[in-house]
Amino acid sequence: MGKIKLPKDFFFGAAMSGPQTEGAYKKDGKLENIWDTWSDLAIEDFYNRVGSYVGNDFYHRYEEDIRLMKSLGLKSFRTSIQWSRLLDQDGKLNQEGAAFYHKVFETAKKYDIEVFINLYHFDMPAYLFRRGGWESREVVEAYAHYAKVAFETFGKEIKYWFTFNEPIVEPEQRYRDGLWYPFIKDIQRSLNTQYNIALAHSLAVGEFRKAQAAGTMRSDGKIGLINCFAPPYTKDNPSEADLEAVRMTDGMHNRWWLDLVAEGHLPEDVLTTLEEKGVVIDKHPGDEAILKEGVVDWLGFNYYQPTRVQAPAKPVDANGLPVFADPYIWPERKMNVYRGWEIYPKGIYDFGLKLKNDYPGLKFYISENGMGVEHEDRFKNEAGEIQDDYRIEFIRDHLTWIAKAIEEGANCVGYHYWGLIDNWSWNNAFKNRYGLIEVGLMDDYNRHLKKSAHWLKTVTENNEII
Ligand code: BG6
Repeated sequence: MGKIKLPKDFFFGAAMSGPQTEGAYKKDGKLENIWDTWSDLAIEDFYNRVGSYVGNDFYHRYEEDIRLMKSLGLKSFRTSIQWSRLLDQDGKLNQEGAAFYHKVFETAKKYDIEVFINLYHFDMPAYLFRRGGWESREVVEAYAHYAKVAFETFGKEIKYWFTFNEPIVEPEQRYRDGLWYPFIKDIQRSLNTQYNIALAHSLAVGEFRKAQAAGTMRSDGKIGLINCFAPPYTKDNPSEADLEAVRMTDGMHNRWWLDLVAEGHLPEDVLTTLEEKGVVIDKHPGDEAILKEGVVDWLGFNYYQPTRVQAPAKPVDANGLPVFADPYIWPERKMNVYRGWEIYPKGIYDFGLKLKNDYPGLKFYISENGMGVEHEDRFKNEAGEIQDDYRIEFIRDHLTWIAKAIEEGANCVGYHYWGLIDNWSWNNAFKNRYGLIEVGLMDDYNRHLKKSAHWLKTVTENNEII
């Protein structure tokens, strides 16, 4: 393989989130969130019974972590503010929570690292979940208020904002597939949460534009949305019904958000099919005007895996609700066996070109891409450093396809690896390690570079892979 060049101004950084790194569970005025509720309720659901308590101790070690980023040549990192840390139950600022984030941002500035701030990463405050969570319009309004306070509080410090990380995940995992607390399996309820999140996103963008016009934020600030887009594929020689499964899967998972952030509406064809199949979306007068506000400045594309589907064997589930697709197992697929996700680097290229062709004005960056591996201890060399050649190969292959997409006109401007440092992966806790840097769970959370961290440094030096 020859040298791979990325554009000179293409940026490298890393991604993380508040609830997966901060820890400091219920400390300094932090309220309970839905992960704390689930941890308190059924700790046996979490790998090795590690709940949402400590994260990777970022709350205490942020300066060390930012210094490490700098040492790897990274220019930026994304984390999220925790709603449950920033506001109290009356929606008023929690001064201690705000002080923590101010300290993180000041430190990043000291090291000349740009912080990208995301407002929501699957972490509904528990008191709002008890009022209906994303099924409730009251919570949608509460989120818009939270966004407004965050813009007022940090708008002069932060340039790059995101309303949501992967807004599709809670509707699917909590309400459709029943995998996450509160374990609901109901596509009807799932689509209503998805609809309400689209409204919440749009209201927040509206608040952002207002704050910018009022001069309470940096005038060069940008707002975006991040989703785990999954390029859709089906079998060779598909039937009409297989193609229909692709259309609806793509429509609900990808185009729902892309049409919203590029054009300010939800995909008409998807809404029509849902209605025909009896899925009732709780629309209110005035919603269309709200959704129009949802157009963003740029997009974050998290890429882990493609989606492969075929026509469903049964058109309805046990509750009589419609099924739009069944999974299709591609015989040639290569798996990350630890996470159970397919590794298909070309998907990043296919989707990059889809963005270029279908949403030509939309600039994007790869906001997450990474590989979680179990028991990485077995890859330690004599000096105790994890030799994660598989991770190097993973990143290299994806960057190679990104470079090709850019060459062919895709408007991709940067790459954030997930995650800089091993972090808490929801109910998988610390089972699959994603970091370029190891966290010693039996070693007081100390940080140790893995081989991939040294390798990435060689890439960031000249924006090229040798
Ligand atoms: C993305 C999320 O879905 O993938 C992260 O934004 C998550 O929060 C990452 O940690 C990896 O997935 P997981 O479930 O293995 O942690």
